[in-house]
Amino acid sequence: MAREKKRRQSGRRSPLAAAALIGIGLLLTGGVYAGASAAMAATTDTSAAASSLTVEDGKKLFQANCATCHGLDLQGTENGPSLYGVGELAVHFQVSTGRMPLQAQAPQAPQKPVQFTAEQTAAMAEFVQSIAPGPTYPDDEILDGDGDVSNGAELFRINCAMCHNVAGAGGALTEGKYAPSLHTTSALNIYAAMVTGPQNMPVFSDMNLTAEDKRDIISALLYMQDNESPGGFTLGSLGPVSEGLFIWIFGIGSLIAITVWITAKSN
Ligand code: HEC
Ligand code: HEC
Repeated sequence: MAREKKRRQSGRRSPLAAAALIGIGLLLTGGVYAGASAAMAATTDTSAAASSLTVEDGKKLFQANCATCHGLDLQGTENGPSLYGVGELAVHFQVSTGRMPLQAQAPQAPQKPVQFTAEQTAAMAEFVQSIAPGPTYPDDEILDGDGDVSNGAELFRINCAMCHNVAGAGGALTEGKYAPSLHTTSALNIYAAMVTGPQNMPVFSDMNLTAEDKRDIISALLYMQDNESPGGFTLGSLGPVSEGLFIWIFGIGSLIAITVWITAKSN
């Protein structure tokens, strides 16, 4: 009798301990992942500050930092495209997100720590605009975030979600390119991305999306940034695969743990 009881006890303990160990492991990886992604959410100052630097300063900055690839007169070289007609907004977008100056050839210019102050960026933008004008800064109203959020969300699902994911979490494209997450980007850069179409992103002209549509999309994205995942964990908003994996590991894992526990108990 006493021997029987002892065997039972030790039989019961081990599967429980294993389940607890799996649970602790999953919680730890989850915690580390959450910490890491919070740390990665870089803060970039993208405000288009009124420039106290002149076009002349912008020209000097451009010649020192950009001309090796884009040419002294923006004509382009074999290392970089011509910047005729790309406009000041493209310069603001590329430089304030740290994509430019480019450091190495890659499938897509990565976002790096920003290397210029808002004033320097604005001066370079002004210089580029003065040589060959292109898309420029929008009215403040377009960026105010007070547009129609539900219309914006629908337009986003139709025009942007195939690359950026329904929740704006971003996603992989072909040949090592990717559509970035839109969870930390600014209103001005959302607008800039739409009108300048960086790299693999198409340009959304006012014929495709009117200024009002753009305002709605910006409002929807700002709304998403402010109200992330009211339902709890997003699981990265990566879609059915990550969520399926979660259920696979957690759901089926705990079913197996319970089964093992019941069998051990009945022995
Ligand atoms: C090492 C070379 C290199 C340097 C330095 C560089 N760029 Fe670029 N730039 C590129 C390349 C290559 C592209 C095209 C990227 C792509 O579309 O894949 C590009 C694209 C751009 C674009 C987007 C053009 C468009 O069609 O929308 C802008 C704007 C720009 N660069 C501005 C700058 C500015 C401003 C600087 C200096 C602060 C700079 N670049 C420094 C190589 C460079
Ligand atoms: C064909 C795929 C595609 C579509 C459709 C698309 N994008 Fe993009 N988007 C990209 C890619 C690729 C980049 C990264 C470009 C780069 O790094 O230069 C990008 C970049 C951006 C950025 C810059 C993010 C940052 O952190 O700097 C914003 C904002 C953005 N897109 C918004 C939109 C919006 C809004 C729409 C819909 C109106 C849209 N995109 C449609 C592919 C797409």
